[in-house]
Amino acid sequence: MNLKDLYINFFISKGHKQIPSAPVVPENDPTVLFNTAGMQPLIPYLMGQPHPYGTRLVDYQKCIRLTDLDNVGDKTHHTFFEMLGNWSLGDYFKEESITWSFEFLTQVLNIPLERLAVTVFEGDQYIPRDEVSANVWKSLGMSEDRIAYLGAEHNFWIAGESGPCGGDTEIFYWRSSDPIPKKFDPEDERWVEIWNNVFMQYHKDKNGNVTELAQKNVDTGMGLERVVAILEGVDDNYQTSVWKNVIHKIEEISGLNYSDYSESMRIIADHIRTSIFIAADEAGIRPSNTDQGYILRRLIRRAIRHAKKLNIPIDSNWEEEIANIIMDQYENYYQEIRKNRNVVLSVLKEEKGKFNRTLEKGLKEFEREVKKINSNQIPKDIAFRLYDTYGFPIELTVELAHELGLTVDTIGFQEKFKEHQEKSRAGSEQKFKGGLSGDGEMETKYHTATHLLNAALKVVIGPDVHQKGSNITPERMRFDFSCDHKLTEEEKTQAETLVNEWIQEGLEVSIQEMPKQEAIASGAECMFIDKYPDIVTVYSIGDVSKELCGGPHVKNTSELGHFKIQKEEASSAGVRRIKAILE
Ligand code: ALA
Repeated sequence: MNLKDLYINFFISKGHKQIPSAPVVPENDPTVLFNTAGMQPLIPYLMGQPHPYGTRLVDYQKCIRLTDLDNVGDKTHHTFFEMLGNWSLGDYFKEESITWSFEFLTQVLNIPLERLAVTVFEGDQYIPRDEVSANVWKSLGMSEDRIAYLGAEHNFWIAGESGPCGGDTEIFYWRSSDPIPKKFDPEDERWVEIWNNVFMQYHKDKNGNVTELAQKNVDTGMGLERVVAILEGVDDNYQTSVWKNVIHKIEEISGLNYSDYSESMRIIADHIRTSIFIAADEAGIRPSNTDQGYILRRLIRRAIRHAKKLNIPIDSNWEEEIANIIMDQYENYYQEIRKNRNVVLSVLKEEKGKFNRTLEKGLKEFEREVKKINSNQIPKDIAFRLYDTYGFPIELTVELAHELGLTVDTIGFQEKFKEHQEKSRAGSEQKFKGGLSGDGEMETKYHTATHLLNAALKVVIGPDVHQKGSNITPERMRFDFSCDHKLTEEEKTQAETLVNEWIQEGLEVSIQEMPKQEAIASGAECMFIDKYPDIVTVYSIGDVSKELCGGPHVKNTSELGHFKIQKEEASSAGVRRIKAILE
């Protein structure tokens, strides 16, 4: 049995319910481009909302972390990974959590105790030193030498800047054939972190104020790729069973050896895998110059550049062969991969076709310009021309420059870019650097306004209108929906008026839990049916709207103020986008 199944079965045997992996593109969270941790889709429940599946949950969650994008190419970094996680929502706490982690590692995975060590939170002026966790570890046989107390920079966990958070205990594994030292030194890189158990009992708001949550939660996360490497006894994640077939395929296509070209082969493997998960997501992301679409474009184009480095003929179907091997591996775990296999292949092919037309010329242009410059820096005009004319993401130009020991005037590039583009890429970079959104008052209002707009469009345009995406900030809402035409002025006004009428009527917003099939049968609107668990939360607004949704929402529509559509435009083929505000 593989690690994913072992993990899920183990926690099911401890009373947990398995929940499906949430999409990699979060809904209704404007501050992050991708899901970066298993806990992210669970924030409302960590904050106290009852989860339809109860208080003990387990899953494997698709995650994308872009902070390490530039490090991909070494043995251990990935942009996409699967996080194994188990949660207590106000149920068990430190003792059970630690005991079960220990049991899973030593009895199910048969990892010997002498290869393990742990860190616990040493406390600060507000939160006491975590002797409780340390004592549980000792009671399980962990020697004092293998327990290190560390400060908040290591053992306090929060996703981004605000949200649920708490001290944690991290479990380390001795990944080396060197003799295992008696005493644990967390600075020694031969000790690698494999599991993080966060005791989420606090909430940090946007101003940095920390308060106690109504319930004590546990949030754990274990990186699948890393643990598989440990279990298989290799120090290169790309040599594990997760990647073996993919790397082998790249060797076959290129006729080169992994040992000589490992960096490019890892980049191709990693970037194609991440592109698959982005393109297969039901959010319908396609390569573009903003937000998630830009990341998708950047990943595909970088993979293509490295394929070219390996002398792979770009117009052969190499990307399809690699993608198919990856998709074969994941389709039994993620239904969207099975369903959208052809979509993924055509996204890759189309983007490849676009970039291939200019890549060769752009590379020549780059070489010509590099010869001309008499400093170590590529000027902004050249970087911008490579972007604008040849489709080189700025990061690609930076990478090419680095390979020659040069830098790029990226600040100048950004200025030029802003001048030329209404939507700046800088905005999206800001997004994935930032943390999670709070469920602030305005965001909550916009959530409810989104449901009203969805309902209004169904009345004005027809029942075939469905939500295709949404994005909310404290300042505005954005709503994508299926529709085959540009809205007329009349349609826009009608939709706006209808929403405002419903606001004025002061409709109650009510919440109900029910089996998914029942919810669908009752006509509840839902964006991605497969994504939801068997028991779902349904929000109703008076009798005008009924949707499957995780919330949060206002209690009564009278709280919303005045609704105004600011813009209606095309989003992609067959999908229109409305931007609206509450005044
Ligand atoms: N949320 C914790 C992490 O990502 C478990 O490390």
